[in-house]
Amino acid sequence: MLLLGIETSCDDTATAVVADAKRVLSNISTNQDRFHARYGGIVPEIASRRHLDLLSAAVEQALDEAKLGFSDLDGIAVTAGPGLIGSLLVGVASAKAIAYAKSLPLYAVNHLHGHIFAPFLDNEHEPEYPFLALLVSGGHSQIVEVRSPVDFTILGRTRDDAAGEAFDKTARLLGLPFPGGPALDHLARDGDPTAVAFPRNRAEGDALDLSFSGLKTAARRFIESPAGQAMSHNDIAASFQAAIVDVLVDRVNRASTRANYRSVVLSGGVAANSGLQQAIRSWSERSGIPVHIPPLRFCTDNAAMIAAVADRQSAHVSADPMTLTANPQLPFTFPALSQA
Ligand code: KG4
Ligand code: ZN
Repeated sequence: MLLLGIETSCDDTATAVVADAKRVLSNISTNQDRFHARYGGIVPEIASRRHLDLLSAAVEQALDEAKLGFSDLDGIAVTAGPGLIGSLLVGVASAKAIAYAKSLPLYAVNHLHGHIFAPFLDNEHEPEYPFLALLVSGGHSQIVEVRSPVDFTILGRTRDDAAGEAFDKTARLLGLPFPGGPALDHLARDGDPTAVAFPRNRAEGDALDLSFSGLKTAARRFIESPAGQAMSHNDIAASFQAAIVDVLVDRVNRASTRANYRSVVLSGGVAANSGLQQAIRSWSERSGIPVHIPPLRFCTDNAAMIAAVADRQSAHVSADPMTLTANPQLPFTFPALSQA
């Protein structure tokens, strides 16, 4: 199956053409960071206006790079939620219009399902089921048990901030531009992770929930204190990153004892973090459970993951081009789209 994917749930205007749920023929992503940087975070109104400006050209570019026309496609896949309503609406309206005008099947998928299956893209060694997915992005942090493309359970989720949000807010206190996660990661490479003993949230009993608000507050207090003012930003960044990474690896480790998981998958923007990748790889060596981490272009928001997951879920996510609506709170549990 050849699908055109459209992803506009947040601030990336992304399109892609994917063959047979894994071969990426084109993957276009127009990053809007420079329009949001001066506000220190994503401004929803700006994001949706930029999507309006950019999306038509991004659709054309995805088809051009794949050397295909609309008539070659077997369908259109679009992110229906969760995300920013104004942003989602641009992608959904565009996908509906193309599907209707070209008489193509329309598939409406959950953005988070896309992230979970990103490690299958252009990958000869696919993760085996059942697997654990650690999904860590700017808006979400959760651990999911995945039994098939349409069968999963959330084992733990954040009680407050998402991991990416914690990175971005602390990076801002260190004077780094938005989004600060990658820049903080860069600083941390030359820092001492033991310089500051930031708190590690320990979930009670065998709970797998996450929480980053205590860490974020501790980081702010430290950065504003005389000791913090005197310390190198490299050391603060390395210590902060180590605290987040420790907690994430701890949850994966605990989750891994619950069933006979065949693999672990990292996904979402924070999966690009070098400290997290290193720590999870060494955990994988110790535990003997293989870990799959997508390359950067598939870790962050992209449309290839949307097209691929639509193909894998096609029997369940078929949508009507006349009635599909975006749902900013689209439920994670499958099949979520019957309510759309
Ligand atoms: O998945 P994504 O592109 O968008 C959302 O759906 O949220 O994730 C973006 C998040 C941002 O918070 C960004 O700072 C974070 O991922 N991020 C990183 C790194 N690269 C991206 N955080 C830490 N280290 C990185 N290298
Ligand atoms: Zn995302």
